[in-house]
Amino acid sequence: MRNMKVLLPFFLLHLAIGNLGQSASMQPNYVFIMADDLGIGDLGCYGNSTLRTPHIDSLAKDGVMLTQHIAAAAICTPSRAAFLTGRYPVRSGMTTIQRAGVYLFTAGSGGLPTNETTFVKLAKEQGYSTGLVGKWHLGLNCETSDDHCHHPLRHGFDYFYGLPLTNLRNCKPGAGNVFIVATQHVVHSSVQVVTLALATLLLLNSFKLLKVPWRALGYVSLAVALLLAVVLLFFSQFRNLNCIMMRNRRVIQQPFSFENLTQRMIDEATNFMERNADRPFLLFMSFIPVHTALYASQEFLGKSKHGLYGDSVEEMDWSVGQILASLERLNLSNQTLVYFTSDQGAHLEEIADNGEVHGGWNGIYKGGKSTNWDGGIRVPGLLRWPGVLAAGRSIDALTSNMDLFPTVVTLTKAAMPSNRIIDGRDLMPLLLGEVQQSEHEFLFHYCNSYLSAVRWQPKHSSAIWKAHFFTPNFYPEGSQGCFDTHICYCFGSFISHHNPPLLYDVSRDPSEALPLTPSSEPRYHQILEVMRKAVGEHRKTLTPVPDQLSLNNLLWKPWLQPCCSTVWQHCRCDEEKNRSTALDGAMG
Ligand SMILES: *[C@@H]1O[C@H](CO)[C@@H](O)[C@H](O)[C@H]1NC(C)=O
Ligand SMILES: *[C@@H]1O[C@H](CO)[C@@H](O)[C@H](O)[C@H]1NC(C)=O
Ligand SMILES: *[C@@H]1O[C@H](CO)[C@@H](O)[C@H](O)[C@H]1NC(C)=O
Repeated sequence: MRNMKVLLPFFLLHLAIGNLGQSASMQPNYVFIMADDLGIGDLGCYGNSTLRTPHIDSLAKDGVMLTQHIAAAAICTPSRAAFLTGRYPVRSGMTTIQRAGVYLFTAGSGGLPTNETTFVKLAKEQGYSTGLVGKWHLGLNCETSDDHCHHPLRHGFDYFYGLPLTNLRNCKPGAGNVFIVATQHVVHSSVQVVTLALATLLLLNSFKLLKVPWRALGYVSLAVALLLAVVLLFFSQFRNLNCIMMRNRRVIQQPFSFENLTQRMIDEATNFMERNADRPFLLFMSFIPVHTALYASQEFLGKSKHGLYGDSVEEMDWSVGQILASLERLNLSNQTLVYFTSDQGAHLEEIADNGEVHGGWNGIYKGGKSTNWDGGIRVPGLLRWPGVLAAGRSIDALTSNMDLFPTVVTLTKAAMPSNRIIDGRDLMPLLLGEVQQSEHEFLFHYCNSYLSAVRWQPKHSSAIWKAHFFTPNFYPEGSQGCFDTHICYCFGSFISHHNPPLLYDVSRDPSEALPLTPSSEPRYHQILEVMRKAVGEHRKTLTPVPDQLSLNNLLWKPWLQPCCSTVWQHCRCDEEKNRSTALDGAMG
């Protein structure tokens, strides 16, 4: 009895420490790193032998590498929405039937709806300090220039430093104009149509077959000229209006500067981790590279074997190294789950005006960004958590960038939202080696709002079937991209429908080179039947929601335009100037 009394406190202490130890280890910090437009074939750990990415590769060496990690969309805005909500972007309205499936202007009214729940919000409710450094691209305002209804701080982040929109060629003087690149075919054909129409009118007029209503024609021309003038004015100010840097709700640099941008980002990420070293935190490091306009610091310029693109990748890799070093210095490596991915495949059509390749490499996979060929959606997936996840493992099971949502929710012991469908699946059983197959039997591949393909890994099978209902028409033919439109579109004359669908086994034919036929695959019809049925079942789970990327939500609305000075000062300001100088040479 006496013994018991003496031992009891020790026993309780032991329990407490044990529990503490356990909860500390099972409630890790999160550092989620997302590159922009990085191709899976750009990384050493995924087979690149000429680009140097030692820090990102170290995550594969010290952690788990996913080989079938699939982005929920092949372009930025929907892929990022899916990542944060764990849901196909079509469920939140973050897809569209329009041409452009991403936000192009800061002053559009669409964005991630406030009634969507991000894993960030749920982690915050569980006591996590949450920060976003880098690109957002999920909307900003709804009705006024500062209601910030779609702002990161409305979606669970305590801290935001970065771009509400994205980097674009137009953000960097001399880097070209993405709108001209993407619309030259439209401009070209419109000029042809107008010229033809005018010539016909004149011809008819000269033969007195028609009296040209010169006055009406004059008014129409005037209206067109006015409209053109407004558009030209807007584009002359594009950089000031759309390339904006914010800290929390404040615009601090308009337009943002590329000077010391890498150092500023790393500084922000490091400060965030230092500030929160004593409590659980979640950092989303959403890199601005390697989207065009490409940039690299002096230390990296001209150092890679792959031009400015390679320089930019190598600098980003260095940044990842800086983040990992900060974790080590703060003694947090073993308490932190680090995840690295890209929002989608490399943008093959990115050729600079001088002809230099500014898009990345998707390895053996076909196509790239904006296509549902695997080059567009198969992305790097690296997870490191020393002491918990085995080092150097590679996992071939189907996973999605939507899986981070339930993974975080489960680890933080938050309640899974019950009033909506979550499409992601907890990664931990796979990562811990408790199971060999993921719970994803099917993954659906959307091109904007249109379902273009489906992937099926039958239980206890090594085959991974992929059926395409339509595919983009590459131009020029025989290439792997849509070079005349800059990205591939999902409708009309831009695509070819396939009935029966194009069927591949991507486990045997990862390059999607040879479609199967009933004679090359005896189960051809049964396989397609199962997949069609799965698509039907999936469709039944969709409900109509407001289109956040409709033309109305996409277009520039002057009254939503953030402007940190006055219109007469062209909305310019720079609170980062001194800081840029202070950080100069910080990379040593
Ligand atoms: C490595 O990446 C570069 C840049 O994207 C690419 O040009 C090159 O072909 C890749 N090399 C290999 C071996 O994959
Ligand atoms: C972190 O985990 C690794 C792998 O389990 C272990 O070797 C190392 O000693 C741990 N470091 C600390 C500081 O606990
Ligand atoms: C969010 O609100 C829209 C209507 O504005 C609705 O259609 C949608 O179902 C809601 N989403 C959720 C997850 O409740």
